Amino acid sequence: MPRAIISPSVLASDFGQLTAECKRMIKGGAEWLHMDVMDGHFVPNITMGAPILSCVSKGVPGIFMDCHMMVAQPEKWVNDIADAGGALYCFHMEATSDPLPLIDAIHERKMKAGVAISPDTPSSVITDEIAAAADMLLVMTVYPGRGGQKFLERCILKVSELRARFPDKDIEVDGGVGPKNIDLCAHAGSNVIVAGTAIFGAQSPEEVIATLKSSVDNAQKKIEPK
Ligand code: DX5
Ligand code: ZN
Repeated sequence: MPRAIISPSVLASDFGQLTAECKRMIKGGAEWLHMDVMDGHFVPNITMGAPILSCVSKGVPGIFMDCHMMVAQPEKWVNDIADAGGALYCFHMEATSDPLPLIDAIHERKMKAGVAISPDTPSSVITDEIAAAADMLLVMTVYPGRGGQKFLERCILKVSELRARFPDKDIEVDGGVGPKNIDLCAHAGSNVIVAGTAIFGAQSPEEVIATLKSSVDNAQKKIEPK
């Protein structure tokens, strides 16, 4: 199974200090930063776009921006996000009818490609062909659109289904994830953990990052005994 990666969601950070917030997370042990891009169409809210990501990538050298594109036309933003320094471009299966050419376009711009499914979308929409082409699969554990929502436990079954089908793929969970439910996520087989409120809302974000990471590491030891 692929290794544990913690990706704090900056949606829960102080946007006025975004570069400092990202640096603080990296110092605290975060490997990726989860950048929630919302367009007011695919989801009702608007957050940030390429101009802001571009400032962050200039301000935080070496940052890995895990861009979660909650946008209606994901084809439209590949070049802008690549130019802004995005490292991973994750689009929603619900937002496109043609995922394979989109994955190719993302790879052409030297970004990793992710495919996301919302709570009501079955894991079966991710066909073997799509999973083989993609670098990461994202199972949403809340309805996309805002931070601080309650974790939907029923979505975890989809993580188990995908992990059984794709033992080597990065599988990310996003939404309401924190120390209380990390074991559930980790045992089901997710290895890329997004958390906004649980990390930024904590007294000690580095402790939460360490807890999340060790839960994934421990679950993997149980799944793959040596
Ligand atoms: C929801 C976003 C999530 C969210 C996670 O639409 O995709 O990334 O910010 O935040 P928490 O961990 O607070 O649910
Ligand atoms: Zn997200």
